Amino acid sequence: MSNLSVFLVGPMGAGKTTIGRILAEILGLEFKDSDKVIEDRSGADIPWIFDIEGEEGFRNRETGVLQELALESNLVLATGGGIVVREENRLCLRQAGTVVYLTADIDQLVERTYRDKKRPLLQVDEPEQKIRELIDVREPLYQEVADFTVKTDGRGPRTVALEIARLLQDSH
Ligand code: S3P
Repeated sequence: MSNLSVFLVGPMGAGKTTIGRILAEILGLEFKDSDKVIEDRSGADIPWIFDIEGEEGFRNRETGVLQELALESNLVLATGGGIVVREENRLCLRQAGTVVYLTADIDQLVERTYRDKKRPLLQVDEPEQKIRELIDVREPLYQEVADFTVKTDGRGPRTVALEIARLLQDSH
């Protein structure tokens, strides 16, 4: 596969980072995680950025990093769960490569993000309710950008990564 980037989108807890790393290894591509790039660039972690700059400040950084990484090729990029909220990001994703939407049932997402302190949007009294609200808003946006949708429920990351690799190969 030449000159191609793969973008993994989906909610917090879908496994984008873990699966993305394995997928990159299988495809022989470089792996990056947009949250990690944002943290490296700013020298601060995501909760700190939300604290000081608010969600808007974080989203601005996220858009900047996406636009920059979209210029690269041969990359597997795990994106943050909210990247699809901005229309300019959705356009960018669709133009810059193949987009894979990783889904999971709400129960799984809740379980995988349980007691998480690193995700500012889930530091609320009822994180499960928050996850439901975010999914309601974002599900159509994930669908809008996705070339492929892959369910991750009850499956190991390697199995999912191999399925994605197969889908990508079949489509070329
Ligand atoms: C967010 C998801 C997080 C991170 C930030 C906001 C969101 O990424 O970008 O906390 O809005 O859903 P992960 O999906 O990797 O947890």
